[in-house]
Amino acid sequence: MIRATMNVDILRRFLHYRKVERKRAEIELDARDLLQVESVGYPKAVRRQLSGRFARGASLWLYKLDDKVAGYGWTLTGTAIAPHFFPLGRGDEHLFDFFVFPEYRGRRINPSLVKHVLAKLALEANGRAFIEAAEWNTPQLNSLGRLPFHKLGHARKFFLFGRTVAVWKPGKPE
Ligand SMILES: CC(C)(COP(=O)(O)OP(=O)(O)OC[C@H]1O[C@@H](n2cnc3c(N)ncnc32)[C@H](O)[C@@H]1OP(=O)(O)O)[C@@H](O)C(=O)NCCC(=O)NCCS
Repeated sequence: MIRATMNVDILRRFLHYRKVERKRAEIELDARDLLQVESVGYPKAVRRQLSGRFARGASLWLYKLDDKVAGYGWTLTGTAIAPHFFPLGRGDEHLFDFFVFPEYRGRRINPSLVKHVLAKLALEANGRAFIEAAEWNTPQLNSLGRLPFHKLGHARKFFLFGRTVAVWKPGKPE
């Protein structure tokens, strides 16, 4: 019995305990996780954003290492939420705002989380999955390069009379 406990302890030291949790409402987040997620920006603004997104039916996926949030990402079915503008079909999934805390970057957490999300959504969705990256965002482009996404096109966004206009074109940016 003592030996078994020691083995588990040794294993824990070498293997980080990972899990992914899906949250569909603010109330499902425990206080520590909420604090961690809020720390990414101005806490009140992040909180407002969380509430707004959950109210629209979005899910927040938390990637935990040893019970601490190391990264997260959002998904929403059938529509995109500002500042993302993407024409989606009814059953399509939009994956957006994936974030890995700086101390965990470069450890393939993002591709691992996206893969997990895709596998889960494949069981419940009947559409396609879309994700995007800014063309300057080398880390995200490198990270997505490890995933089975096909590059569909590029967009230019601009502001016109207080509204955002996104123009999508197939292929690579000129
Ligand atoms: C983009 C992001 C989610 C990638 O997460 P990740 O778990 O570090 O991803 P990966 O481990 O696959 O590393 C991807 C790239 O990050 C860069 N990277 C590696 N180590 C890094 C570190 N310590 N710090 C910063 N970037 C690093 C490298 O370019 C790496 O690609 P490479 O290994 O082919 O050189 C993360 O950098 C992040 O949260 N960035 C800020 C938010 C953001 O831009 N999100 C995407 C927009 S939706």
